[in-house]
Amino acid sequence: MENNFFSQKLINWYNSCKRDLPWRNTRNPYYIWLSEVILQQTRVVQGMPYYYKFIEAFPTVFDLAKADEAEVLRLWQGLGYYSRARNLHATAKIVVEQFGGIFPDSYEKLLTLKGVGTYTAAAIASFAYDENVAVLDGNVYRVLARVFGIETDISGNDAKKVFSEWANTLLPEKNASTHNQAIMEFGAVQCTPGMPSACMFCIFADQCVARSEGKQTILPVKTKKVKVRERFFHYIVVEQQQRFLMNKRINKDIWEGMFDFYLIEATELMGLEKLLEKNEFLSQLLQHGLIESESALYTHILTHQRIQTKFWYIKLNADFSLNLPENIQFYSLDEVEALPKSTLINNYLTQNMGIIS
Ligand code: ADE
Repeated sequence: MENNFFSQKLINWYNSCKRDLPWRNTRNPYYIWLSEVILQQTRVVQGMPYYYKFIEAFPTVFDLAKADEAEVLRLWQGLGYYSRARNLHATAKIVVEQFGGIFPDSYEKLLTLKGVGTYTAAAIASFAYDENVAVLDGNVYRVLARVFGIETDISGNDAKKVFSEWANTLLPEKNASTHNQAIMEFGAVQCTPGMPSACMFCIFADQCVARSEGKQTILPVKTKKVKVRERFFHYIVVEQQQRFLMNKRINKDIWEGMFDFYLIEATELMGLEKLLEKNEFLSQLLQHGLIESESALYTHILTHQRIQTKFWYIKLNADFSLNLPENIQFYSLDEVEALPKSTLINNYLTQNMGIIS
């Protein structure tokens, strides 16, 4: 198949079948960057409300740069992969401080920004500036692997090089923006994972190698599976006169910068007796308070982790004063509501304390 034929057919399809998405009606690199970071590992329906929330709260990169990190994380709450939000905020500051608030205008310069990898740099460079550089995301891997019968393992070391060569060769001389949007859209709505339901009506039905060889579910080849780490969380919810002990997570771990309760992590799920043996802070709490409840088991599943969690609610005597590190403090319920928290913590709060977030 001729390269021009592929691109022409794709763009014709896109012009008549594309979804009307807000970030496609702009050349503003800030909006494009925001949308691309939000849409990483996220579907359009899930990401769309966050895109609107962000452009409303932070209409310019200056607004985002001067926000508190907690405010950015709170707005990101529920979307997952929170390092994206922290990087977003850090990058906004760099764009303001080092580039006067103007986004770098080429692929190479964009790559120097924190949290901007090859995909995002190519997306911004092509969508905002029509630079001739191909985007490569999961959708593009799938479309290329199937249409051209590329058997290279997409989890292997040379996948990026092999597919990027294909993708760049297929780019038309002009119109990288539309071509890139089109190939991603094609992967998202037509050439879907698993067995696509509409293969026989596909614009590439006559050319597609996967279709002619019945390999739609085999291509793209991906051999490495994600390893899932098992974790066991024991949360101690400490209340004293309707104020709650919240911990700002400061370590390099999931949910960094967000708030949870006092956490005891172990290599297995433990009962209260064992927790008391292992944790002095907990025994101190129980000398000055009472356990009001023990929660059901919550299983929280992330891409790389499965976290089994139980919560113990302890009411602390009013006259007891705890000596606390800076990142662990008491908050009123209203303040707790306003803090950025993981979906796990929000599920507990909603089911047990009536907080809606
Ligand atoms: N996924 C990632 N980027 C996208 C975009 N610009 N439009 C639709 N889906 C996307």
